[in-house]
Amino acid sequence: MRGRRTAAGHFAGGDPVSDTVLRALLDAASATYRPAGPFAYHFARGKLGADPLFRLLLQRGMFPAAARVVDLGCGQGLLASWLLAARHLYECGRWAREWPAPPKLLGLRGVDRNPREVARARRALAGDAAIVEIRQGDIATLETADFGPVDVVTILDVLHYLDFAAQESLLRKVRDALPAGGRLFARVGNTDAGLPHRVSTAVDLAVAFARGHRLPRLYCRSSRSWIALLEGLGFSVHGEPMGTGRSFANVMLVAQLPL
Ligand SMILES: C[S@@+](CC[C@H](N)C(=O)[O-])C[C@H]1O[C@@H](n2cnc3c(N)ncnc32)[C@H](O)[C@@H]1O
Repeated sequence: MRGRRTAAGHFAGGDPVSDTVLRALLDAASATYRPAGPFAYHFARGKLGADPLFRLLLQRGMFPAAARVVDLGCGQGLLASWLLAARHLYECGRWAREWPAPPKLLGLRGVDRNPREVARARRALAGDAAIVEIRQGDIATLETADFGPVDVVTILDVLHYLDFAAQESLLRKVRDALPAGGRLFARVGNTDAGLPHRVSTAVDLAVAFARGHRLPRLYCRSSRSWIALLEGLGFSVHGEPMGTGRSFANVMLVAQLPL
């Protein structure tokens, strides 16, 4: 990130135009969560402000111009809120000239197994129910038909909760659900990252524990192994650099089916 993030979760010190847009985007995407309560709001503000992933998805123009999206392990629906807020700012003419247009969401289906996350997502995104649908369910047991019409599948920081066989089965169903040229964005841990990966895993376990869950077993792979798995399914794959800090332990895999 060119801008420096302040303690308030705002961006400052980089390109003033982009920083203004980022601040407006963070405000709008977080404000969606006010009706869902203080935890939902502060969590949204903290994560959307701190995690470079959300900014990079837009700044690098990774989505098609218009897209039907399925977000697996959507949590409280941050991706939906972020993309909708970005498009709204764009349509109001409040967008950074040097950034690509944010995608027009034709539909977004989020799936998460945690009922509290689902409840927060539904509450926050209730005003966009014509576009966003949040389902409660286990992504390991999805059928290909459950994806519905889709152009982009996102699986952000989720795959390591599924055992290795379930990861492979899910990715096969993603491949089968996507059309020619369809895209998959998967942010995954990379065991090759060494210490940063171990720190990142420890943080995931601590967060799960703090939220009252049993310590989950995590199923991690090296980025080479993730890429081989996806290429074996017919995707062409590249890794998008995700910046520094904790996100350095993760790799964003951009996978696309041939046209
Ligand atoms: C680290 S959070 C990421 C949330 C979201 N992708 C984001 O970036 O904000 C992981 C999410 O995966 C969900 N999850 C884990 N295993 C799952 C499963 N088998 N089926 C559905 N959701 C799952 C958890 O409930 C949690 O909301």
